[in-house]
Amino acid sequence: MNRAFYVTTPIYYISGNPHIGHAYTTVVADVLARTARTSGPAFFLTGTDEHGQKVANAASAAGKSPQQWCDDLIPRWQGLFAAYHVRYDDFIRTTQPRHERAVQAVFERLRDNGDVYLGKYEGWYCVADETFWLESKLVDGKCPTCGREVQWLSEDDWFFRLSKYRDRLLEHFRSNPEWVRPRSVYNEMMALLEEGLEDFSISRTNFDWGIPIPGGGGVIYVWFDALLNYITAIGWSTDDARFRTYWPASVQLIGKEIARFHTIIWPSILFALGEEAPQLVFAHGWITVDGQKIGKSWGNAVDPFALAERFGADSMRYFLLREAPFGSDFSYSEEKIAQRHNSDLGNDLGNLLRRSLAMLEKYREGIVPPAPGESAFAQRFADLPLRVREQILDLRFREALEDVWELVTALNRRIDDEKPWVLAKSADDASARQLDGLLYDLCEGLRWLAVLLHPVMPERTQEMWRQLGLVDGIDRDWSVLRWGELAQGTRTLPGDALFPRIEFVSS
Ligand code: MSP
Repeated sequence: MNRAFYVTTPIYYISGNPHIGHAYTTVVADVLARTARTSGPAFFLTGTDEHGQKVANAASAAGKSPQQWCDDLIPRWQGLFAAYHVRYDDFIRTTQPRHERAVQAVFERLRDNGDVYLGKYEGWYCVADETFWLESKLVDGKCPTCGREVQWLSEDDWFFRLSKYRDRLLEHFRSNPEWVRPRSVYNEMMALLEEGLEDFSISRTNFDWGIPIPGGGGVIYVWFDALLNYITAIGWSTDDARFRTYWPASVQLIGKEIARFHTIIWPSILFALGEEAPQLVFAHGWITVDGQKIGKSWGNAVDPFALAERFGADSMRYFLLREAPFGSDFSYSEEKIAQRHNSDLGNDLGNLLRRSLAMLEKYREGIVPPAPGESAFAQRFADLPLRVREQILDLRFREALEDVWELVTALNRRIDDEKPWVLAKSADDASARQLDGLLYDLCEGLRWLAVLLHPVMPERTQEMWRQLGLVDGIDRDWSVLRWGELAQGTRTLPGDALFPRIEFVSS
């Protein structure tokens, strides 16, 4: 069956300014989608989570209606993703009628089949995290996640029959040990499952900024509403053919703090609807500063717009994927970004392009010479495109980039070893042929690099492409990338440095 690749990010709380952590997940999803698109249809969804008490409180503090307040913030979020060269296929807002109607349809469906029922809720609630807590989980009487005060709630609520899905979920975990990654999160979620699951309230009556419960009785709990975005956006209940093309999602990316919602509650809701769990939920690590998770409520949020401006969005994207194995936490500093930018990108890749095109200009008037034919060098990298694609689609971004860098390094080494400036001086045919072959391989290697790095650095690779004298095809299918395809006679167009050096002065 020709199913499309479907990747999602969490939908972000709109209640503040975006920070680099939000850019991180979204950039990763973009890299996956761009890579998947080279071999078939792909769909990439992101968006904003706009309901709930936190948003209502923030809006009222700003003297606006919640809807107005959300509408005013949207350009900032979409602007962030544009600033990071993110190309999503759809941006869902939970206040859109398409979503609200479908969430109500889910509610009705589950109420009809008995998985949603009326009961009494009493317990602790953390407004900042929009999460209910058992007394036993509180730390010094406060929210165990964020340390804030919790409120006591007592109301008649609609409940979701989570307990009913525990066995099915356990079975799902056991027979699909790779469906939650990394393994540490899988194990943690398994432990929760083994402890047992309790039904939970999915209605709120103490405020009204949410999707109304059909027939009255408050609004739908914000997490229940939010999780459903992943299927409402692709036509659940309204466009079955479209829905079946994309669901189950190929990869759902989340930060590890929301793993419980995505690997226990979310698949149970799907099971209740008669749908499959996503193929993979990947709970990545946190970007930290001084060991602390960056977050808007922590007072250490770093302005992601300023970072993209200073280092270049593509350098930021490279840094985010290259710095740590995907899944682990990693600490962030401008010094580290500057280092990656200057060293990997400026010295290794940027200089390779600059030197190669300058030599081609000097020795062959900027015209690509004939291809050298079969070579051990080409042979050595023949499987690189498919290997890198596999690594990226398996979310091993750092390894993928390390492998691509082997080509960067090998090309740089050939310049040092073969010394084109010496070859150019000797008058014999063999030297001229060797120089042709070397210059060809340098350009061809750079063409490959532009293709393979395009998902990670969409804008800078386009500039490489342009300087190589190429027009279309940077997003071609990697499985048909062959060494030797670069046409003899191509006129290269050397231009500005790809990654101009950034002086970093540590404070
Ligand atoms: N609205 C919920 C998600 C609902 S999904 C159905 C939410 N929103 S959020 O605005 O708090 O965004 C959380 C997500 O942003 C994390 O799961 C992660 O993807 C990203 N990150 C936020 N801070 C981050 C870091 N410091 N580091 C890495 N990712 C971070 O939770």
